[in-house]
Amino acid sequence: MSQPSIVEFVRDVYQTNDFIPLHAPTFDGNELKYVSETIKSTFVSSVGKFVDEFEQKIEAYTGSAKAVATVNGTAALHAALYMAGVRGGDFVITQALTFVATCNALHHMGAEPIFVDVSPVSLGLCPKAMDEFLTEHAIVTETGCIHKQSQRSIRAVVPMHTFGHPVEMDELINVCLKWNIKLVEDAAESLGSFYKNKHTGTLGDFGAISFNGNKIITTGGGGMVLCKTSELGAKTKHITTTAKLPHPYEFFHDEAGFNYRMPNLNAALGCAQMEVLEKYLEQKRELASRYKIFFETSDFKFVLEPEYAKSNYWLNAVICPSVEARNELLKQTNDAGVMTRPIWKLMHRLPMYKNSLHGDLPNSENIEAHLINLPSSPLAL
Ligand SMILES: Cc1ncc(COP(=O)(O)O)c(C=O)c1O
Repeated sequence: MSQPSIVEFVRDVYQTNDFIPLHAPTFDGNELKYVSETIKSTFVSSVGKFVDEFEQKIEAYTGSAKAVATVNGTAALHAALYMAGVRGGDFVITQALTFVATCNALHHMGAEPIFVDVSPVSLGLCPKAMDEFLTEHAIVTETGCIHKQSQRSIRAVVPMHTFGHPVEMDELINVCLKWNIKLVEDAAESLGSFYKNKHTGTLGDFGAISFNGNKIITTGGGGMVLCKTSELGAKTKHITTTAKLPHPYEFFHDEAGFNYRMPNLNAALGCAQMEVLEKYLEQKRELASRYKIFFETSDFKFVLEPEYAKSNYWLNAVICPSVEARNELLKQTNDAGVMTRPIWKLMHRLPMYKNSLHGDLPNSENIEAHLINLPSSPLAL
């Protein structure tokens, strides 16, 4: 019997002839119950028990010393960068191949990105590419890493765990120590992904998670800052909640804080979704293993988790043998109501980042031209 087409295969896996999205949320647990509870209590906004509960659940799951819930993942990244000491005029290194929010968060601080290449193993920031860029363009001084030509600080690096696959963190941490650079992990896509048994987002100085509707679990909109110590956590909570000093009735704010607090309504959804995270992770591994087997006999290369890591397989991906094959697969699937998408355009091609500094980007360019994301909603087993 001949091999089924990708459309036939995905339809068979999801057992439906309806439109198949890239990643849809599922609410078959206590979501309605907890959200109704917040509405009945009237505590839908900035005060309520679910925010604390959700933060504690994320701490227990990730091992973070303190998790601080925010309105979305971009806000979590913004707050994390602020806490890491990034300020206007600084440079921040990140990968050219990422979702635009990674760069927007640092841009909104008045900082500027420097783009380096990704690793073909992780699809995330390549520590060697970062070290090579710094060796050519930077020096370390007592005040930190300085870009030689402009004399501006290179304050931080933001690696992104692409589609849930963890970056080579030991190597990256060594590069950060060598060059005296802060490490803020964009773990927006990687809740449930572990690097050598440590949860992504807890290895650097700070981490940021997203709970947008397309992520492995969702709060509608939402994010979380993962902090290394409870002191940094307390400070992060303070600056994300308008920097108000605690007092029974007086208003005093000791710095220009952010209003980034996650509403209780969203946190209620998050608490219910955390109860089903393990189930989704299992279902997504099963789905990934089916894709792996499907593509094994073809010249398309299914993207597997790196050997050193356990990935959440948030978005499944395949590398096509040619640009023509990529275009054909995109057309064939989307025409048939099976949603697939090309990967993002490299950041230095976007108008607002076209003048940003960057290193050589051979891996990023190759992946940009050949990678397609496949339907990845958790599969009902
Ligand atoms: C890599 C990456 N960074 C940041 C974000 C921003 O998260 P949010 O949409 O919750 O602001 C997302 C997802 O949306 C993302 O995929």
